[in-house]
Amino acid sequence: MLRPSLFNRKHAMNTATQSVAFTQMKEGTREEYHFLRELEHQYIRSLPDRLLEALKALGHSLQGYQVSRLEHSLQSATRAEADGCDIDTIVAALVHDIGDELAPENHSQMAAAILRPYVRAEVTWVIEMHGLFQMRYYAHHYDMDPDGYLAHKDHPWFDSCVRFCERYDQAAFDPAYPSKPLSHFEPMLREVFSRKAFDPAVLQAPAPQR
Ligand SMILES: [Fe+2]
Ligand SMILES: [Fe+2]
Repeated sequence: MLRPSLFNRKHAMNTATQSVAFTQMKEGTREEYHFLRELEHQYIRSLPDRLLEALKALGHSLQGYQVSRLEHSLQSATRAEADGCDIDTIVAALVHDIGDELAPENHSQMAAAILRPYVRAEVTWVIEMHGLFQMRYYAHHYDMDPDGYLAHKDHPWFDSCVRFCERYDQAAFDPAYPSKPLSHFEPMLREVFSRKAFDPAVLQAPAPQR
């Protein structure tokens, strides 16, 4: 007996309204998985749209600073661009705190996971480590260790993370700073997150000369 799968229908599929028939993954057919893969590709192509919405939501997240998390993110990206950084670093600065809402205890790792398929590996490492490196500026006020970042002092990208935190992160809480709007960074964000995922030519690209 034929299952009531969309693939048994005689008429052309309407992928906007149809779905697979299986209720357990192991029951799925090759046709169904190819159908799902096309939808997944469409979904991945709209990643920049979702990231932009997540950035906008940072305008109403963590309280207490003089600037919103969105303003902090824009200011971080603006400072990185003004400093002559490459597009990977500018976009990374823009999204470096995007994990604040859903991963408040490990937001650095969340942002790094989002970036990892699309930017130079060095940039991913810097974002993954920025939470630890940032502690040098405030941990002593909580009687915590501000020097944890020194455990990575021999890492080849140690200086990059120190520079990112000093120039683009810890400095980006100034309400008087003329940050560029999100619309300025949108084309850069779309370019980076439209790249082929995990492309060695991107991930292993050398750092641009500065
Ligand atoms: Fe952060
Ligand atoms: Fe930050």
